[in-house]
Amino acid sequence: MGPLTLPAGALCVLVGAPGSGKSTFAARYPDTWRVCLDSYRRMATDVEADQSATPVAAEIQNLLLDARLSRGLTAVVDSTNVFPHVRAGLLARARYWQRPVTAVLFDLPLPTVEAQNADRDRDRVVPLHIVREHHQLLPDADQLHHEGFDAVHPISELLATGTPPLPRSTCMP
Ligand code: UTP
Ligand code: MG
Repeated sequence: MGPLTLPAGALCVLVGAPGSGKSTFAARYPDTWRVCLDSYRRMATDVEADQSATPVAAEIQNLLLDARLSRGLTAVVDSTNVFPHVRAGLLARARYWQRPVTAVLFDLPLPTVEAQNADRDRDRVVPLHIVREHHQLLPDADQLHHEGFDAVHPISELLATGTPPLPRSTCMP
C-alpha cells in the first residue's frame, strides 16, 4: 500500500498536534518533498524546540517552498499548522504559484495522540499541556475547505481505507 497520492506539484499541509504522526506520514514521501520548521530550527541552533530560531526557520521554509512550487515540485509541510494565520500564509503561497493545495488533518482522539507522544524517545516528548492546547485548536474538515484547501484528507479516513501512515523504512527492504 503506497502513500496518499498527491496532485502533481501540490502543496500538502499537515495539520495536527505534536505526536499525532505528521512526520511519520511525511516519511512515506521522498525526503526532498518535506519542509519542516523543526529541522531548520535545529540546523540554526542545534535545538529543534528553540523558538528564538522560528523567524529564520520560517524564512528558510518560505525560500524552499517558493523554489519547489515555482518548479511544479510537490512539497509537504511537516509542522503543526494548527493556527489559521499559519495556514493562510501557506494557502497564499500555493495560490501565488497556482498550485493545488491539500490538507491532511490528523484528527485522532486526544488519548491516542497523548499515548503516541508519551511513547517517543524522551528528548522528543512534548509537554502534555502543549499537546492538549494544539489538539484543541484542530480545525475540522469543513473549516479547512472553507479556508481554501482544494482537498482535505482526515487521517482517520485514510487509516480506515488502508493508507497507513507508517514510515517507508518499515515497508521497504
Ligand atoms: P510523529 O513524530 O510522526 O508525530 O509520531 P508528529 O506529529 O510529527 O509530532 P511533532 O509535531 O513533530 O512533535 C509520534 C509518535 O507516534 C508514533 C511514531 O512512531 C512516533 O513515535 N506513531 C505515529 C505511531 O505509533 N503510529 C502512527 O500511525 C503514527
Ligand atoms: Mg514531527
